[in-house]
Amino acid sequence: MSTYTLDTSTSRAHPTPQPMRRLTVPKLRARKGGEPIVALTAYTTRTAQLLDPHCDLLLVGDSLGQVIYGLPSTIPVSLDMMCAHGAAVVRGSWHAVVAVDMPFGSYEASPAQAFESAARVLKETGAAAVKLEGGTVIAETIAFLVARGIPVIGHVGLTPQAVNAFGGYAARGKGNAEAGSILDDARAVADAGCFAIVVEGVVEELAAEVTAAVDCPTIGIGASAKCDGQILVTEDLLGLFERTPRFVKRYDDLAGRIGAAAAAYAADVRARSFPGIEQVYRRDE
Ligand code: KIV
Repeated sequence: MSTYTLDTSTSRAHPTPQPMRRLTVPKLRARKGGEPIVALTAYTTRTAQLLDPHCDLLLVGDSLGQVIYGLPSTIPVSLDMMCAHGAAVVRGSWHAVVAVDMPFGSYEASPAQAFESAARVLKETGAAAVKLEGGTVIAETIAFLVARGIPVIGHVGLTPQAVNAFGGYAARGKGNAEAGSILDDARAVADAGCFAIVVEGVVEELAAEVTAAVDCPTIGIGASAKCDGQILVTEDLLGLFERTPRFVKRYDDLAGRIGAAAAAYAADVRARSFPGIEQVYRRDE
């Protein structure tokens, strides 16, 4: 069903006013070393509508566990959650490639498990690609998916689903041994057929080495400008949370502005100045 069949007179979810041709996975892959890839996370239709004209890639990240659901990490996120939010983002976008994160536990057991989960994601959401975390260990699974027509984005460096193994979210690759193994991971997932690789939380020198070592675009988060593109969690750049990680640049103070709007509304209700004359239905209208 096309999104244009929405009844926009009764729904807030009206379509993006200027429909655009959607980018494709091969076009994104061809951006290696060229125009930087602009990527952001999106979890809902309305946010997707607002971000889509500005982005090449919208990632339905499993960070939605923390951002939307208040979970302590991405570990509890389910495939049902990813499918519901993935479909919402596809409904709100016309231009960007939409990729959906494979949640923890939905792909690690075997290539067959990964195919079943990824196929469900693509069928139920209409997204073009999936992203999964890991390096050499997951390369065989990535090759299995790619050979069966599922475009895959890799994710190396700081991989949040491994938070329990890492013991936190500290930047990685500062020492030679760890940097070497992250470089091996990136080479392995690139050789397995990823069309892009998210490189998260690594020192600048390593980001540059990884970007030079692989033939697909790298998309950095906390990985310097030495990558072929950048991604951030949208709510971080909007300033929705008090804590801002060092690698995030805040472009707004949404937390402050939402708090101020709620305070103004509360004051109006208490003063009985809302609803005012413009917000009231009358018999004679
Ligand atoms: O889950 C997520 O949002 C991500 C990005 C931050 C890369 O994986």
